[in-house]
Amino acid sequence: MNKSFKGILGGLAAVLFAGTVQAQTTVSIENKEDAPVISKHIYGHFAEHLGRSIYDGLYVGEDSPIPNTNGVRNDLIAALKDLQIPNLRWPGGCFADTYHWKDGIGPKEDRPTIVNAWWGGVTEDNSFGTHDFLNLCEELGAEPYLAANLGSGTVEEFTDWIQYVNHSEGSPMAKLRKENGKEEPWNVKYWGVGNEMWGCGGNMTPEFYANLYRQYATFMTSWENENDLYRIASGANQDDYHWTEVLMRDVPKHLIEGVALHSYSFVEWDEKGSASDFNEEQYFSTMKTALWMQELIDKHTDIMDKYDPEKEIDLIVDEWGGWYEVEEGTNPGFLYQQNTMRDAMIAGTTLNIFNNESERVKMANLAQTVNVLQAVALTEGENMLLTPTYHVMKMYTVHHDAKLLPVDFDSPEYTYNGESLPAVSVSASKKEGNVAISLVNIDSQKENEVEIDLEALDVKNMTATILTSDKLQDHNTFENTEKVTPEEFKDFKLRRGKLQVTLPPFSVVVLESK
Ligand code: AHR
Repeated sequence: MNKSFKGILGGLAAVLFAGTVQAQTTVSIENKEDAPVISKHIYGHFAEHLGRSIYDGLYVGEDSPIPNTNGVRNDLIAALKDLQIPNLRWPGGCFADTYHWKDGIGPKEDRPTIVNAWWGGVTEDNSFGTHDFLNLCEELGAEPYLAANLGSGTVEEFTDWIQYVNHSEGSPMAKLRKENGKEEPWNVKYWGVGNEMWGCGGNMTPEFYANLYRQYATFMTSWENENDLYRIASGANQDDYHWTEVLMRDVPKHLIEGVALHSYSFVEWDEKGSASDFNEEQYFSTMKTALWMQELIDKHTDIMDKYDPEKEIDLIVDEWGGWYEVEEGTNPGFLYQQNTMRDAMIAGTTLNIFNNESERVKMANLAQTVNVLQAVALTEGENMLLTPTYHVMKMYTVHHDAKLLPVDFDSPEYTYNGESLPAVSVSASKKEGNVAISLVNIDSQKENEVEIDLEALDVKNMTATILTSDKLQDHNTFENTEKVTPEEFKDFKLRRGKLQVTLPPFSVVVLESK
């Protein structure tokens, strides 16, 4: 073909195809019979006695002018119910290994005060205790996840707590509970056996902790664990693979149901930078640590697979989220930070990772629920706002307990300063015949086009929601609570089973079949 004719054809093609969406990333979705179910517990939360999380955040007290139910703010209860939160971890964090639960039961005026040594050294009056927390979980329809004290507690104190909340009758602790006004037990299933035992939980070696864990886990249950308690061992900090190796090697399988992992996202641990005033370099670094979650899960899973090929022990990421400097003028020990589109990017990509790894990851807890770290809600007096992270969590509720549809694709790159990260993240699921797909584009500048073949899934129509904004730094304030909110999304086409989506820069899109 002569050159000029080729040129004319090329020009014609350009005219003919102008305005059509050229898919650049092709995602294949598999409708696999034996794919795992995405446990709704991956969408769990965490509320620690830390800063304004419990006191002032969740709990304002029965006499507060702020509308409340048994002292817990009604606006927050409604928001968490809307989020369908599946579980709530309490009372810590580092606080858990300083907490003596008996200080938080009985008449409130008789409860001893305590000093919160880890978080700001403030004095607490213990007015929010076991009954308050477990009744709140009942109200929310969420499973409680109690983190017990190994660092400064005893086996007796721990087993008394289990007896107090789980025995129906015939034991000293069941009698005490009834005297405190609760006839029926709450039947708490999820128990954390200490927290960060390599650090604030006691600076232990994994070998020492594994032995201690065996001791506690033995007395927590009957020999056969017929009450079906779910025991979660305090797990590794990020890439401490040795920690997981020792736990998996040294703890007999009948004593353990889950192994934890903690990983936060940050710019640099020693120079975290502002939560809302950051540049692209800081954004890129934060996303690098957020996306590291994939490698962490892969490598911890490899170790678990070695000792537990049957996958009887779950990986529980019971602390994750973005960690920045506190807001100016606030107590540095209170970890109060704003929440921007950067956090929406962390949430969207991390939850996609958890969904895709749902064969081993059965629970995760965002740190934390309110007024601390990557919160879903912030409060100021009687006002409350929902953060971009809240909106992502809400958009992703479609994946709760849905069957995973494994995806396969090569992501385009988000490049900054000579370094690259995968720009696009995807997960998909199916529940009661409906298909849901969540897509994230973390690129700060470029839109990305994605094509997904849905023919085998027989999807005819879809609706979509998007969370994005003008700037990555955008966030909701008490003056403007609606700056970042989800909107209906129309920039997609579904023709003959092929879905084509154009993802704007830094956006989260969730599509659902109708
Ligand atoms: O979530 C804040 C703190 O981070 C927790 O108390 C601790 O477990 C972790 O180091």
